[in-house]
Amino acid sequence: MSTHTEDNRRKVTTRRLSEMKQRGEKISMLTAYDYSSAKILDEAGIDCILVGDSASNVMAGNMTTLPITLDQMIYHAKSVMKGVNRALVVVDLPFGSYQGNSKEALASAVRIMKESHAEAVKIEGGEEIRESAERILCAGIPVMGHLGLTPQSINKFGTYNVRAREKEEAEKLVRDAKLLEDIGCFAVVIEKVPAELAERVAKELTIPVIGIGAGGGCDGQVLVMHDMLGINRDFSPRFLRRYANLAEVMTGAVKNYISDVKSGDFPSPSEQY
Ligand code: KIV
Repeated sequence: MSTHTEDNRRKVTTRRLSEMKQRGEKISMLTAYDYSSAKILDEAGIDCILVGDSASNVMAGNMTTLPITLDQMIYHAKSVMKGVNRALVVVDLPFGSYQGNSKEALASAVRIMKESHAEAVKIEGGEEIRESAERILCAGIPVMGHLGLTPQSINKFGTYNVRAREKEEAEKLVRDAKLLEDIGCFAVVIEKVPAELAERVAKELTIPVIGIGAGGGCDGQVLVMHDMLGINRDFSPRFLRRYANLAEVMTGAVKNYISDVKSGDFPSPSEQY
């Protein structure tokens, strides 16, 4: 039997996530888009890193996740992979790179795996993307599903409000989650749905269910790193717990630097050659 410390050093794989669910150990997941952040998260012991298409919002300043391209996702994924030794790295297939054309979906997923060396991809949707998911899975590429609030469909739904409150949508979500499990997805993210529904899905599925705004009954949790560290202050949904206020820390540090440069205090004799 491995000790807790040995376990903390072992590479996380899709199989290990499944074992974690089986023994009731919660899975921790955060987003990262660059080498330095990924290295910090990995060394802190995060189980899973998501190179999310939320990079479109927090890195590029777009209003939605739609504009980010496959090339840009690969750039972020490559940077993240250089900083990670232990965590499982999952990369979002961006909007337009997999929906409606399974051949293109496979080509997009293959590019991510070949060019970034990441270990899995994530795609949004259930029955609608079944063919694309199956084709990617057939190539031996692990797929994580994403149900509930699916930000790539923002223009269809028109709001980022809680999803699947109504019975019909809730039943579709349960059907889609089972479908994703049946076709071979290794996990599914469920975003912003009632906690009771997410808990039911986590109980009915054997694959891990990772929640964001989906309550404590999920097998794990994911947050956007910039939100939980308080770098991004424009986003304060009820489900978000802020673990730091880095925007304040950074603003204070930058103000001190400006003032030291202006006053001539920086650099001091010991900070020059
Ligand atoms: O892109 C992203 O950050 C995500 C998470 C919100 C799950 O998909």
